[in-house]
Amino acid sequence: MKETNKTCLITGASSGIGKYIAYEMVHRGWRVVAIARRRNKLDELTEVLGRDNLIPMVCDVSEFDQVKDVSTELKNNNVCPTLFFLNAGDGTEEDDKGLDLELHRKIFDTNYFGTVNWINQWIVLLKERGGGTFVATSSIQSLRGMPGAAAYGASKSALNYCFESMDAMYCKDNIRFLLVYPGPVDTAMLKTNRPLPCTWKPQEAAKYIVRKVLRGSTKIQFPLFWVLIMRIVKLLPNRLYLRVFRMK
Ligand SMILES: NC(=O)c1ccc[n+]([C@@H]2O[C@H](COP(=O)([O-])OP(=O)(O)OC[C@H]3O[C@@H](n4cnc5c(N)ncnc54)[C@H](OP(=O)(O)O)[C@@H]3O)[C@@H](O)[C@H]2O)c1
Repeated sequence: MKETNKTCLITGASSGIGKYIAYEMVHRGWRVVAIARRRNKLDELTEVLGRDNLIPMVCDVSEFDQVKDVSTELKNNNVCPTLFFLNAGDGTEEDDKGLDLELHRKIFDTNYFGTVNWINQWIVLLKERGGGTFVATSSIQSLRGMPGAAAYGASKSALNYCFESMDAMYCKDNIRFLLVYPGPVDTAMLKTNRPLPCTWKPQEAAKYIVRKVLRGSTKIQFPLFWVLIMRIVKLLPNRLYLRVFRMK
């Protein structure tokens, strides 16, 4: 493995948005380190994008030791990404039969710690090397509490705060922390009975994210329809907001 300047790392690269971010980055001449748990999906992606362009690495991002081992292996082989798409996510919905602590822990381990584990492993090196960029895939759902998404929304809100705080702390070191807030995207994670209006294809979402990230946008939100809806929802007084859910 040889080091080039244009190397990025993508978590959750085996499907959905992350997989198409890998396509986009390779087409733009970047080498991609692709991270996920399903080896067969990573192998398929390597076949399509080519061994020179894609380094597949099996890793459960919620396991700190696995993130550490993968990071050490990359560093030992002089592969040092400067751009990290920290996109792996668990979107398991909750029911109203009580609060499942195990599920809350699992979702935080993937969505929150599965993101900050990578920052922990790489930020010092990026600082020494003069800068870099971390991009977290948050969610438009983190902007106001939604039923069935207590753990998911909370984990993404925690990421929002973490990234805003880290961006303010490290901008002087040329290390940026960007947040992506997708609305509905047609992937395995989007489990709805009725199709939602203005749902984007993952290819479309990936193209948009990559274009905005490479331009340095700090807050990336889409589709516009859902961005506007969420702005209105955020402004609704609590009584009105709850009435919508009581009617269900
Ligand atoms: N789809 C939407 O409507 C939507 C909306 C807002 C935000 N998002 C966010 O977008 C991101 C990508 O999701 P998606 O929609 O593209 O869904 P997806 O197709 O289900 O992709 C999820 C990805 O995360 C990986 N992953 C999950 N847990 C992991 C773990 N513990 N370790 C390593 N990789 C793990 C999966 O790979 P393996 O199973 O192979 O490990 C898969 O590649 C997520 O963060 C999600 O919260 C999605």
